[in-house]
Amino acid sequence: MSTNKEIYFDLKKSKNKYLTDSVIKYLLIDVNNFSNFSDLVINFDKQCINETLLFKYVEEIKNGVPYQYVLRKVDFLDINLLINNSCLIPRQESEQLCLIAKEMIEKIFNQKKVNLLDLCSGSGCLSLYLSKHIKCNIVTGVDISMESVKLANQNKERLDLNVNYVCQDIRLFFKENKILYDVLICNPPYISDINTVDEQVLKFEPHQALFANPGYLFYEIIFQNYQKILNSKYIMFFEISEDLQEDLINLISIYLKDVTYIFKKDIYNKVRFLIILKE
Ligand SMILES: C[S@@+](CC[C@H](N)C(=O)[O-])C[C@H]1O[C@@H](n2cnc3c(N)ncnc32)[C@H](O)[C@@H]1O
Repeated sequence: MSTNKEIYFDLKKSKNKYLTDSVIKYLLIDVNNFSNFSDLVINFDKQCINETLLFKYVEEIKNGVPYQYVLRKVDFLDINLLINNSCLIPRQESEQLCLIAKEMIEKIFNQKKVNLLDLCSGSGCLSLYLSKHIKCNIVTGVDISMESVKLANQNKERLDLNVNYVCQDIRLFFKENKILYDVLICNPPYISDINTVDEQVLKFEPHQALFANPGYLFYEIIFQNYQKILNSKYIMFFEISEDLQEDLINLISIYLKDVTYIFKKDIYNKVRFLIILKE
């Protein structure tokens, strides 16, 4: 039996590239059932509650499995989500998209309740965060992956939020949908060049969540169909990759009429978000 401190320093010595300082801390927090880093600090000299589980986790991490898949959960802003390898690991950039969306929705719709649509919803991170923080009437999430929809539903139950998750290809959803939404948020697959993707991401995350050919495919499908899903006054929030900016400007000019749009940068100074407003 070892203390948390002994395990921490032993693991630090391993110099495995995936077993970073913060990952070791996350693992220790999890196996001890601590709530946060402060709990770990307070109990650093105490015995680790579940060393067997910890070393099982360490083996998986050393094999390159992202720690979020090993722990089967992830913090996303102020919510905690269950995840598994059927869905994309929610990214920091998507947290930023949610914060931008929250601020703009509050400003534009004031205190009015909105109908919100999350296309390509994955774990449900975007719709769950926004349904927690925005006054909503109907919230719908759509994803083609049944496993992701199951997870999103589990997350919804745990967080006690009211979102309807539908397992459908967005193309079919557009055909069958009968509700008009005020807000659309979407982080679709948009990578077209496999060579730009990190080895660990490529090996462990679902390719269906990553790749689109051409990269602007999903944006074009949405722009072609927006009248079937959106009210006459609407706002759309998209996560994008910087290299798609020119294509997206072109698609907006082809498909959308009288809109205002803006691109915003992420914390790494890359153009990452597209916001389109129709007043
Ligand atoms: C980049 S992930 C985004 C997941 C989540 N919204 C997030 O931000 O973490 C894209 C999602 O699109 C889903 N997807 C891929 N093709 C789809 C399609 N034709 N219709 C609906 N969803 C699709 C994938 O299953 C995946 O969950």
